[in-house]
Amino acid sequence: MAEITERYRDLFIQAKQMLKNAYAPYSGFPVGAALLVKGEDKVFTGVNVENASYGAAICAERTACTAAVAAGYREFEAVAVVSGRGAVPMCGICRQFLSEFSPEMDVITGEDEDHLEVRKLCELLPESFKL
Ligand code: THU
Repeated sequence: MAEITERYRDLFIQAKQMLKNAYAPYSGFPVGAALLVKGEDKVFTGVNVENASYGAAICAERTACTAAVAAGYREFEAVAVVSGRGAVPMCGICRQFLSEFSPEMDVITGEDEDHLEVRKLCELLPESFKL
């Protein structure tokens, strides 16, 4: 497992602070994400946003990533993901989505900031689809 730094703990806490903004009235499963830009002390946060048309929901990791890309950032160091109900593994769509930009990035998950797990995205999705 990759090293757990203070920076990564902070990132996890930032993701956790986003939970209050999650829009998850259908699943009741709020998720927050914080995405650290590579080589800069810049973070983009996101939450899951659900919809009455269930399939239109978008995950927290992807709302963070789309905000970053829209602001001109495409390379990421790490992403922290937090749910309102314990440790959450990143879903398959988000693994593919983030792999597009930084397959080597670290993925930080865990029950709380004192019990973090850090894995490389390319470990979580070894054969991402590429064109
Ligand atoms: N969800 C995320 O935001 N990220 C994940 O990696 C897993 C799932 C959200 C989507 C949906 O709003 C809710 O969790 C339940 O699936």
